[in-house]
Amino acid sequence: MKNRKVVLVGDGAVGSSFAYSLIQTVKTVEELVIVDLNKERSQGDVWDLQDITPLTSDVTIRIGDYSDAADAGIVVITAGVPRKPGETRLDLVNKNVKILRSIVEPVVASGFNGIFVVSANPVDILTTMTQKISGFPKERVIGTGTFLDKARLNIILGDHFGYKPSELDALVLGEHGDTSFVNFDEAKVNGKRLLDEVEISADLQAQIEAEVRGRGGKIIGNKGATFYGVAYGLATIVRAILENNYKMMVVSAPLTGQYGVSDLYLGTPAVLNSTGVAQVIETELSNRELEKMRHSAAQMQEVIDSIE
Ligand code: 2OP
Repeated sequence: MKNRKVVLVGDGAVGSSFAYSLIQTVKTVEELVIVDLNKERSQGDVWDLQDITPLTSDVTIRIGDYSDAADAGIVVITAGVPRKPGETRLDLVNKNVKILRSIVEPVVASGFNGIFVVSANPVDILTTMTQKISGFPKERVIGTGTFLDKARLNIILGDHFGYKPSELDALVLGEHGDTSFVNFDEAKVNGKRLLDEVEISADLQAQIEAEVRGRGGKIIGNKGATFYGVAYGLATIVRAILENNYKMMVVSAPLTGQYGVSDLYLGTPAVLNSTGVAQVIETELSNRELEKMRHSAAQMQEVIDSIE
């Protein structure tokens, strides 16, 4: 990608953690422009972030507005009303679609011709809506999806069975939310089929899935918000785009027939490079898991159809 300018829309806990992570992990980013309604706070963040650049990279950091997207390579959207304790991600939908529209329309009007990366919740719906509102080719819109759920799953499985998270390769697919599911049938530990190595009864599988789904809410309950995990996921996606590194990640990617689902963004493995989503990987699923993917898609579609 020629244009190494990133515009961040939304400088809350997720946005500022992303900025912090980005300038440490992505040496190739040249300019970071922060757009937020609270310019005073964002200017404070700019100065605070600049303090680490002598040790990290020569990135220029400043506040700006939507017109800065005109020559940007990537626009990252974290802006939205966050989930309150007890609230589901879907409760947020109408509020956050309105906010999303007020961002995507002026970004597109600026002449932006890059890639949108979305993490605001409900992320699969907002990623689908970003593509619809912008009219961009589907591969140029990506959501953080179940990236975070996959991390949580491998930590929780590791805790249950005494493995390190890095030894496990189990995926969370579908919606980043209440209809997400784990591909237990294909999950691997050190390259071997997990279910051949340890016994996980149907009840325990359901319990683990519930623990994974509940982890975000638990963090919100304890500290009011979750941000480090998703911020690191955003930085990893931006890095894959800027460095054209063909990284395979579980993200919210456009389904165009995979799993029998179309016209929706949902959590699935995908390969990311400078073109955005280079390839959606239709991972192997058992029949019962395929049913779960279709159920998740049906729930998402119902919400999209109900958007005002
Ligand atoms: C999370 O799962 C709140 O969606 C956010 O951490």
